[in-house]
Amino acid sequence: MEENGRTFSDVRNVILSAHKNAGAEDKVAFYNEWAANYNEDVHILDYRAPMLAARCLSAAFPGDREGALVLDVACGTGLVGAQLQKVKFRHFIGVDGSCAMLELAKSSGLYQELKQCLLGKETLPVEPESCDLVIIVGALSVGQVPVTVVKELWQAAKPGGYVCMTTRANAENQEYKRQLERVMAEMEQEGLWTCVDVVEVEQWERAVSDHETGYISGVVYLYKKIPRLGFKCD
Ligand SMILES: C[S@@+](CC[C@H](N)C(=O)[O-])C[C@H]1O[C@@H](n2cnc3c(N)ncnc32)[C@H](O)[C@@H]1O
Repeated sequence: MEENGRTFSDVRNVILSAHKNAGAEDKVAFYNEWAANYNEDVHILDYRAPMLAARCLSAAFPGDREGALVLDVACGTGLVGAQLQKVKFRHFIGVDGSCAMLELAKSSGLYQELKQCLLGKETLPVEPESCDLVIIVGALSVGQVPVTVVKELWQAAKPGGYVCMTTRANAENQEYKRQLERVMAEMEQEGLWTCVDVVEVEQWERAVSDHETGYISGVVYLYKKIPRLGFKCD
């Protein structure tokens, strides 16, 4: 990683400068600005979400990893792809709203395809039921990707495929987390997917806000899309 001599205080200032009620375009503009320092800054933040998500998925994924097609939504600079490559996944499509983040993902050499998309405003640019695994890390939270996108993640997964999602569990994200879990539970009740694992993690990343100290907590959710039953009418 290129070192720019960044400090925790620099990182804290950047994150606190992002307005949580900003629109998608503003949020993506924020990431365009942050892209050059992102990898170094999240290292300082001890941001463990990509590793934790990859670990959860790796423990549960039964299929052929080298042949599996992975859709990394809100891929950023490619930290999730790097973690999944360590556990033998090889084929990645990345989607993100920020061109600057996508440029860095491209330079990682991990992704066969990269697509720009403003999630929540534009439709996820992949064929329905085309991916063995759909993953979104660090982007389902207040002020970022809306919970309505969860249905699109499900849609992109093949029947029998997996959807891995993360969110923060700190005070400011509690309402978003409740909404997210409600949507996930409703989809399970509709028979669209089944919950494989929920991993609650205390040390998710270092806290940056004034009213939090130490680490904030977070959650990894893993769901499996239920294959449709083929009904035959006589
Ligand atoms: C915290 S970063 C996470 C990146 C990567 N998944 C990781 O874990 O390092 C959040 C990413 O979500 C993207 N993002 C946020 N809101 C978005 C939106 N509405 N549409 C598309 N991308 C969005 C940002 O551009 C950024 O790359």
